Amino acid sequence: MTAAAAPMADDGAGACRHLAIIMDGNGRWAKARRLPRIAGHREGVEAVRRVVEAAPGLGIEVLTLYAFSSENWKRPAEEVGDLMGLLKHYVQHEIDNLHRNNVRLDFIGDWRALKPDLVEQLERARERTAGNQGLRLVMALNYGGQAELARAARSLAEDVVAGRMAVDGITPAALEARLDTASLPLPDAVLRTSGELRLSNFLLWQSAYAEFLVTQTLWPDFDGPALAAALAEFSRRERRFGGR
Ligand code: FPP
Repeated sequence: MTAAAAPMADDGAGACRHLAIIMDGNGRWAKARRLPRIAGHREGVEAVRRVVEAAPGLGIEVLTLYAFSSENWKRPAEEVGDLMGLLKHYVQHEIDNLHRNNVRLDFIGDWRALKPDLVEQLERARERTAGNQGLRLVMALNYGGQAELARAARSLAEDVVAGRMAVDGITPAALEARLDTASLPLPDAVLRTSGELRLSNFLLWQSAYAEFLVTQTLWPDFDGPALAAALAEFSRRERRFGGR
């Protein structure tokens, strides 16, 4: 990408190093075409491919995608099975390409509670790409912000009860260090596609000062230019982090 076309990373809000995306609208995309929901999810995977390819060229270092929430289990079993199948297929077929492109794949959420064969595959993909220095692609799987905060609180409580930590040690920094995202910078922006204005239990703690970006585009239609437009919007924001 040419410098002229790149978002103004050094003006306004500064660079968007970490972008987190709520990929929404797969169902509506399919419905508009009188297709089954799985068709929307399948096209959603294509959008994931496009965005992963475009992100590094737009200055993104960490891309977190909300692929399956802890509340998505409430969907019909068939749809849940389809989503798990797509995830498996994506990792199986994309891992060589991701590795070649220096992408480091990681997961947040209670992903180790997924089916053992899937967990094994995710673990292998994670280990294989662990040394890569390019884009950090983080998939939120079986992820819920409230459950993540409860896990972090429990882990602090266990240390206090065991005498490894004083109650005074429970600070925002100590809690943050026990979140699934402890090794990542906080998200600069949370983007939701398809026009909905909700966080849906995504990165509740981490998004305290993230810019919220909304696009009307349904996720299956999302692509590199749509990502560049969202980042241009981000660059026009003035971030004050509570200051003035
Ligand atoms: C929301 O659309 C999307 C999801 C619940 C899952 C996101 C999953 C994908 C993009 C595909 C799988 C991804 C990978 C990486 C394998 P929705 O069904 O809630 O849409 P609607 O609000 O229009 O009904």
